[in-house]
Amino acid sequence: MLLLGVNIDHCATLRQARYRQPGVTTGGNIEPDPVALAFRCEKAGADGITVHLREDRRHIQTEDVLRLAASKTTRLNLEMACTPAMTEFALMLKPHSVCLVPESREEITTEGGLDIVKHRDKVARVTDAMNAAGIKTSLFIDPDEEQIALSAELKAPWIELHTGAYANAYHGTGRAVEFQRLCAGARLAHAAGLIVNAGHGINYINVAEIRTIPHAHELNIGHSIISRALFTGIDEAVSEMKRLMNTSQSNEY
Ligand code: PXP
Repeated sequence: MLLLGVNIDHCATLRQARYRQPGVTTGGNIEPDPVALAFRCEKAGADGITVHLREDRRHIQTEDVLRLAASKTTRLNLEMACTPAMTEFALMLKPHSVCLVPESREEITTEGGLDIVKHRDKVARVTDAMNAAGIKTSLFIDPDEEQIALSAELKAPWIELHTGAYANAYHGTGRAVEFQRLCAGARLAHAAGLIVNAGHGINYINVAEIRTIPHAHELNIGHSIISRALFTGIDEAVSEMKRLMNTSQSNEY
């Protein structure tokens, strides 16, 4: 079965649109609560919960992550930049996994995979520290040969293939090429002993093809599920995505 990690950052984005006072993110009238949403996602079939604790704290707050770590019933995947402060936080938190992502203050969301060839030393330091602490590291990378080979060399057990370029090309002419890049990357990674996850820009339409990426283990999906939940509720949004990920039919939408 293909697993589903639900990224709940945008629940916190909605909360922060109204409640931005530092340190005041729970209690009283403050809503929506990402931790309560995580619990509902898990009940609806999510296999894990992902949050990105960004340096600028634009959505998820430190307090959210601490509450999540204490109350989640599945796995917690902490997306983070390769910084000493985040490394220290992750080692204290001990999530099931960390996913190393590039981060820049100007971006709307994560744009492109982490260039681990360019940032080899930093990535190696974090991966070594996580391996020593028993926390799995996932490297969010583009499906490039060099990035995949180095992921295996650095002994990260997982990679997350960046599916954003494919998602952007979906309605254009580049879709087939981008999909083949993902498939080739996944085969290469699997042959190198890596667990292959994928994420970014996956929705209820393109999942019909994404789910056929060879050796795919887990999809991390945020924006589309949270958006759908506005219309259907989170239970339906999660269970429908899980069903589409594991159906034997394709292109139902
Ligand atoms: N995976 C990673 C590494 C991400 O940075 C994000 C976006 O925060 C996602 C998955 C989820 O992307 P989307 O919100 O487009 O589903």
